[in-house]
Amino acid sequence: MSGMDYAGKHVVVTGGASGVGAALLEVLAELGQPRVTVLDLRQPTGPHDTFIETNLADETALEGAISRIEGPVDALFNNAGVADTMPRDVVIAVNLLAPIRLTRALVPMMPVGGAVAITGSIAGMSWAKRLAVIQELLNLDGRKAMVDWFEGRDLGLDTYSFTKEVMQVWTMREAQTLRAHGIRINNVCPTPIDTPLVGDFRKTVGEAGMDFTIAHSGGRMVSGREVASVLAFLASPAASFVSGQSIDIDNGFRGAIITGTLDTSSVRASAGRE
Ligand SMILES: NC(=O)c1ccc[n+]([C@@H]2O[C@H](COP(=O)([O-])OP(=O)(O)OC[C@H]3O[C@@H](n4cnc5c(N)ncnc54)[C@H](O)[C@@H]3O)[C@@H](O)[C@H]2O)c1
Repeated sequence: MSGMDYAGKHVVVTGGASGVGAALLEVLAELGQPRVTVLDLRQPTGPHDTFIETNLADETALEGAISRIEGPVDALFNNAGVADTMPRDVVIAVNLLAPIRLTRALVPMMPVGGAVAITGSIAGMSWAKRLAVIQELLNLDGRKAMVDWFEGRDLGLDTYSFTKEVMQVWTMREAQTLRAHGIRINNVCPTPIDTPLVGDFRKTVGEAGMDFTIAHSGGRMVSGREVASVLAFLASPAASFVSGQSIDIDNGFRGAIITGTLDTSSVRASAGRE
């Protein structure tokens, strides 16, 4: 497709060894085979050039990985994520602190036209309810201040969903800063994706919540490839005037909730969520 040619570019992908990230490596290979650097705990099997073994939850490991990334970087895909089956500090570090730090570190290596794409989640759809508190967090300066902010704090919802809410708000805020450098940033919000991680969500969200979402988004999970295609579009010149957006990949699920066609109160109550 015109504008979606990645030939000759250098892209950085986190979480490229599985699920959405693995599908993204395949999609990028079809879109011109860019030079691909992957940051993950595990070696990816899909097409890539450089693998930097990285635990994104570990600040020192992340800084070490950043020092090994060679610019220029045309696109950054902040895709890796973990569910609440992991400890709270790991969820915060992988889903929130790492993408923010990685973006800040790589933007100076990006030419005009560069782009950042984030894999968020439909779980972050209620960000507006917590906008003030999310802004308070994002106004803090540095990783330590953010980690301290979370200490002992009741977020009012599960940590995973909160991190995905924060990434939506951060995407809107960051778009303003990055525009001055000719760089765009966007986020995607899928319903359950057919990847290994979905098993973790069945444990944390519960079977009822997962089945409800799947039933009301077309009766199936979205595939990793369907998510990867939207990510590839958003970070390409085909989306050259799109920035600060969170794009639902949900087959109309959230629209049905907003317009009242779908009442989620019973399933949210059964899952102990607001
Ligand atoms: N699967 C779903 O139902 C679903 C739904 C909505 C959003 N998402 C989001 O999609 C993104 C991709 O998840 P997925 O479904 O492909 O999951 P996945 O588990 O298949 O892949 C995640 C990848 O991230 C890597 N990773 C995990 N922790 C890491 C760490 N500490 N350091 C480095 N790499 C690490 C894993 O090794 C793996 O390769 C995540 O951000 C997730 O929150 C998933």
